[in-house]
Amino acid sequence: MDTRICFLLLSLFLFCLPSSTLSARCNANDKKVLMSIKKSLNNPYHLASWTSNTGCCDWYSVECDPNTNRIIALTIFQANISGQIPAAVGDLPYLETLIFRHITNLTGQIPPSIAKLKNLKMVRLSWTNLSGSVPGFFSQLPNLDYLDLSFNQLSGPIPASLSKLTKLNALHLDRNKLTGYIPDSFGKFSGNVPDLYLSHNQLSGEIPKSFGNISFGTIDLSRNKLVGDASMLFNPNGSTQMIDVSRNLLEFDLSKARFPKSLTNLDLSHNKIRGSLPAELTGLNLQLLNVSYNRLCGEIPSGGKLQDFDYTSYFHNRCLCGPPLANC
Ligand SMILES: *[C@@H]1O[C@H](CO)[C@@H](O)[C@H](O)[C@H]1NC(C)=O
Ligand SMILES: *[C@@H]1O[C@H](CO)[C@@H](O)[C@H](O)[C@H]1NC(C)=O
Ligand SMILES: *[C@@H]1O[C@H](CO)[C@@H](O)[C@H](O)[C@H]1NC(C)=O
Ligand SMILES: *[C@@H]1O[C@H](CO)[C@@H](O)[C@H](O)[C@H]1NC(C)=O
Ligand SMILES: *[C@@H]1O[C@H](CO)[C@@H](O)[C@H](O)[C@H]1NC(C)=O
Ligand SMILES: *[C@@H]1O[C@H](CO)[C@@H](O)[C@H](O)[C@H]1NC(C)=O
Repeated sequence: MDTRICFLLLSLFLFCLPSSTLSARCNANDKKVLMSIKKSLNNPYHLASWTSNTGCCDWYSVECDPNTNRIIALTIFQANISGQIPAAVGDLPYLETLIFRHITNLTGQIPPSIAKLKNLKMVRLSWTNLSGSVPGFFSQLPNLDYLDLSFNQLSGPIPASLSKLTKLNALHLDRNKLTGYIPDSFGKFSGNVPDLYLSHNQLSGEIPKSFGNISFGTIDLSRNKLVGDASMLFNPNGSTQMIDVSRNLLEFDLSKARFPKSLTNLDLSHNKIRGSLPAELTGLNLQLLNVSYNRLCGEIPSGGKLQDFDYTSYFHNRCLCGPPLANC
């Protein structure tokens, strides 16, 4: 056969194939679920590529496993979407990543159906307007390594059971309206110790003593209503790098505190901390130190990085003195 005719026939053949066969990468069940998710969200413009005559693996905001073609990621970011997270997300059994972020009009509670998704590794429902409580069911998702529920309207207590997650690398519950105590169990994470972000809530009571037994890489408890001691966070045997407990009601004597050598950022500002600054601080490779707005006294130890910070790191204390503040 003439190659030109052959080419023509081939082109005709390809042209006549139904487009669904050409880009059919899609599991039929997953497709059905995604279409129902789209419908629950009132067919938003953001999901315009989700059409029944195309393979769902090519759709915007989703990702398939290259071998099985099952949906493994649903990532909806900065979309003009109003309403609630559809319960149907729980019917994508191979989901490893679930993200709804920066969606002002996403409201309602975190759907219980998410508890079915045992393969989840990353959950980010943040910068949305979700309300209700932090569900305890997250503790039953054994592969979870990143849980971010920050910047929402979540209220009520923090579920103590989250410490059962052995693979967790980061837990972000900051910028919500959480109340109650920090669970004692958070000093007993049985596997990985996650970076812990609980700032900008209304948490009260004391920091659990159990935190002296564990070493968070980063711990941010700032802007809550915590009282009492925080010195257990300075475990000298630990490997903590960043501690922020600023803007609480903490009241303890800093004079005898010891610090981990790894510490680079320490913000204790806006509390009721008394005593003096330990000389050991001069031995740390600090990038940020802020002890302002406390009740500290005595001479700022000389050396290390301590004179690299400007006076605002130290001002508004009872009687701290020496460079960079006025001489004693
Ligand atoms: C959010 O909802 C309000 C009121 O229903 C609407 O005016 C606005 O366009 C929505 N904004 C976004 C970003 O979805
Ligand atoms: C968001 O979507 C709604 C309804 O589809 C529309 O009326 C509104 O103009 C959109 N807002 C923005 C900021 O795109
Ligand atoms: C939550 O909703 C309020 C009022 O509609 C809005 O001002 C705020 O930006 C929203 N929050 C987020 C994180 O989108
Ligand atoms: C710290 O760990 C030790 C040994 O596991 C345990 O006996 C002790 O009760 C723990 N302390 C706190 C405050 O949890
Ligand atoms: C740090 O380690 C030393 C020696 O292993 C031990 O005696 C001490 O109790 C530990 N301190 C803390 C706060 O864990
Ligand atoms: C220390 O914290 C105070 C109070 O929040 C702030 O005004 C000051 O700028 C901070 N200084 C540094 C160096 O971080």
